[in-house]
Amino acid sequence: MPIIAPSLLSANFLALQQDCDMLNNSEADWFHLDVMDGRFVPNISFGLPIIEQIRKATSKVCDVHVMILEPEKYAEAFKKAGADVYTVHIEACPHLHRNLQQAKQLGMKAGVALNPHTPIQSLVDVIQDIDVVCLMSVNPGFGGQQFIPQTIQKIIELKALITQKNTNTLIQIDGGVTLLNAPEILAAGADVLVAGNTVFKSENPTQTIAALKAL
Ligand code: DX5
Ligand code: ZN
Repeated sequence: MPIIAPSLLSANFLALQQDCDMLNNSEADWFHLDVMDGRFVPNISFGLPIIEQIRKATSKVCDVHVMILEPEKYAEAFKKAGADVYTVHIEACPHLHRNLQQAKQLGMKAGVALNPHTPIQSLVDVIQDIDVVCLMSVNPGFGGQQFIPQTIQKIIELKALITQKNTNTLIQIDGGVTLLNAPEILAAGADVLVAGNTVFKSENPTQTIAALKAL
């Protein structure tokens, strides 16, 4: 069964408690929390105070995806705010290996996100140190975009690398995931599905989560 990680980027920010309760009572596994700095990506979302509040509202995994420059400067603060998984962008990390050790030393799972143009090969020498690889299937910055089809090939390639190196790394797919394309994404080897619009813009988010979980 896939791990389902609804993205709160598409939640109602004026009624976050309600949306957290909905997720708590659903089959959602992780809360996917998208932090944007307006520099690494052309959008600004939310930051530490919101994550602190969400942490109080759930006991599920807080999966923090930071789309920010210099993520190492904030790792400790995100841990204090309640992050369980800390996913940084490889494109923002000239010293990725050090950043991964830092996240783990702080007691978080270490995640690495790859933009659509970044090859899987860039992970060859560091895959042993990664708990979650987040493959961006849209250009990061916004919810509600179209899934980029080349991602499927990347999932297959990443799965092969993980098998070859015999690691426990999870493959997470982020962006444009729908009930229609999720079966193909899972068949290619994905473990974690992020879904923003598909969950929060649906008529019955709880049922949509259950439908994704049942795939
Ligand atoms: C995009 C974010 C995604 C986004 C996904 O930069 O990383 O997590 O919220 O939203 P959907 O599922 O609507 O594409
Ligand atoms: Zn994300």
